[in-house]
Amino acid sequence: MEAKKVILSEKEIPRQWYNIQADMPTPMQPPLHPATGKPVGPDDLAPIFPMNLIEQEVSTERWIDIPGEVLEKLLIWRPTPLHRAYNLEKFLKTPARIYYKNESVSPAGSHKPNTAIAQAYYNKVAGIKRLTTETGAGQWGCALSLACCLFGLELKVYMVKISYEQKPYRQLMMKTWGANCVASPSRETDVGRNVLSQDPDCPGSLGIAISEAIEDAVTSGHTKYSLGSVLNHVMLHQSIIGLEAQKQMEMLGEYPDVVIGCVGGGSNFAGLSFPFVRDKIYGKDVEIVAVEPVACPTMTKGPFAYDFGDTAAKTPLLPMFTLGHSFIPKSIHAGGLRYHGMSPLISQLVLDNLIQPRAYNQLQTYGAGITFARTESLICAPETNHAIAAVIEEAEKAREEGRSKVILFNLSGHGLLDLTGYDAYLKGELSDYSLSEEEMKESLKVLDSLPQPMLK
Ligand SMILES: Cc1ncc(COP(=O)(O)O)c(C=O)c1O
Repeated sequence: MEAKKVILSEKEIPRQWYNIQADMPTPMQPPLHPATGKPVGPDDLAPIFPMNLIEQEVSTERWIDIPGEVLEKLLIWRPTPLHRAYNLEKFLKTPARIYYKNESVSPAGSHKPNTAIAQAYYNKVAGIKRLTTETGAGQWGCALSLACCLFGLELKVYMVKISYEQKPYRQLMMKTWGANCVASPSRETDVGRNVLSQDPDCPGSLGIAISEAIEDAVTSGHTKYSLGSVLNHVMLHQSIIGLEAQKQMEMLGEYPDVVIGCVGGGSNFAGLSFPFVRDKIYGKDVEIVAVEPVACPTMTKGPFAYDFGDTAAKTPLLPMFTLGHSFIPKSIHAGGLRYHGMSPLISQLVLDNLIQPRAYNQLQTYGAGITFARTESLICAPETNHAIAAVIEEAEKAREEGRSKVILFNLSGHGLLDLTGYDAYLKGELSDYSLSEEEMKESLKVLDSLPQPMLK
């Protein structure tokens, strides 16, 4: 029998994270202070994050040691398996060999605990007692609830209202691990009350939930804010995915021609792909594909600009692809991909042509998810289905070209608590959404008064 999966032993877990800032051909432009237009310094970030994470945020060290206490918690479910998708290959009649890194095996069901554990640890050692955060699909909120439970921290989660209503079991998971979860926009912050006064039926967005969580953190004692994606230290913590995958592919004597991941703020994609982007920088021939929804086409349609990371303009200005910080994406089921911006590191790598962005419609992604479930058994998160849509397209292209090709993708999470979307799809009640030129123009107006980044 041919091996269906590769499992590393606990001893083989990576001991260091990989920081792509050490190898980028064009360094990321600095985040700016909105009041002065000058690069932000560590002190500007100190009300929001502990200093140990701020140091990681700005570090250009290539390798950063993973603390023993973090490794110990990661070992609860890591290393994660790398599978070969034989049945999907057979179904598609493709000569391509398809592999996936299975991040759905974490207790919270996705890749998100990789950074949640690290962030809870660094806050704990900095003496912080309480964290606040936002969550879209609920995966990040669950991950941080788990991590705070493991390290004895209090947690308040602002969950995007549309997801709060679609995913009641995610709320219950967070409560089970001891966190407090409310729907955003909420009546508990100025930002939330403001949004609700203008639009009482607002479905919420990640941008609004981030603003609420930041307001809570800076107005409460012993509290810091924690972000599940976008920032450099999050990408760093997620690099364990790609480092493990590289070892596993090597054990099989394989190297990918294409690496694929879905992108919301970018963390699971960066986690798998950055070690391969490093190889590409040094000459390897590998295509790196980042997949987003057509309904929230940040990289495929948005400009590269300085913009706020949240709706209420409380964060520093980040150099990134953006649809404008007040953009509220349509209520697609892939809640974790409904974000107006993008990781500045990924944005810079897209500008440097090291990463190729692509966008898929909701219906195509659910179709891909159903095909995957019926061939490979796993029911994936709607976010992950975006990556699978690209995998299927690549595999079909390989069949048409008669070319054997190695495809590697990140199975970022399972969809067992996302079945409302599957239900709507199976009943034929789902539709596609795209952005009109008019909507885009309107949502980009907020950028007019902001500084412009340099473009080569
Ligand atoms: C399963 C899953 N995949 C992907 C994402 C997108 O986030 P990121 O781009 O940070 O990986 C999310 C976000 O909630 C998620 O829950």
